[in-house]
Amino acid sequence: MALELTILVGTMTGNAQLVAQELELLLDDGETRAQARVMDGLDAGTFVRGGLFLICTSTYGQGDVPDNAKQLYESLIATRPDLSNVQYGVVALGDRTYRDTFCNGGRRFDAILTELGARRTGEILFHDASSGTLAEEAAAEWIGSWIAQAREQAGIAA
Ligand SMILES: Cc1cc2nc3c(=O)[nH]c(=O)nc-3n(C[C@H](O)[C@H](O)[C@H](O)COP(=O)(O)O)c2cc1C
Repeated sequence: MALELTILVGTMTGNAQLVAQELELLLDDGETRAQARVMDGLDAGTFVRGGLFLICTSTYGQGDVPDNAKQLYESLIATRPDLSNVQYGVVALGDRTYRDTFCNGGRRFDAILTELGARRTGEILFHDASSGTLAEEAAAEWIGSWIAQAREQAGIAA
């Protein structure tokens, strides 16, 4: 049985989108159907039917979500839907030179989704833009075990 995954992309300059495109290509193999969507114009209704989501977002300002993610993030806070039928993971992009707010965009989504009853699969992938590694390569290494855990949590045999 195929696992349906929606990758939601919060980005300002495209790094998170490159990650999402790489993961979409790697995952869309018949066992998983992965679809990447930029967060522009989305709101909390995106989650109403439940399912499996991967939040792939960078961080801007003073540890804020990127501009294209604001409507979705603020709509979750304002409408507080019950997300107990949502399973999710987080790829958080940031830069350690912003010490106190490192990867806060991804951490913010993680906090609100958990607060609304969604269940996180696995650990968050934190990517540091100052590390000299490419986010899409780090994500490509990380995704195999994440998707295996997601299948297990969803009750779908590997
Ligand atoms: C103006 C500006 C503010 C940023 N603020 C933060 C921050 O507070 N914390 C953090 O971890 N990274 C911060 N970053 C780093 C970005 O999140 C990082 O470069 C990321 O890879 C950008 O991904 P994107 O191209 O998908 O937007 C900032 C970058 C810029 C240009």
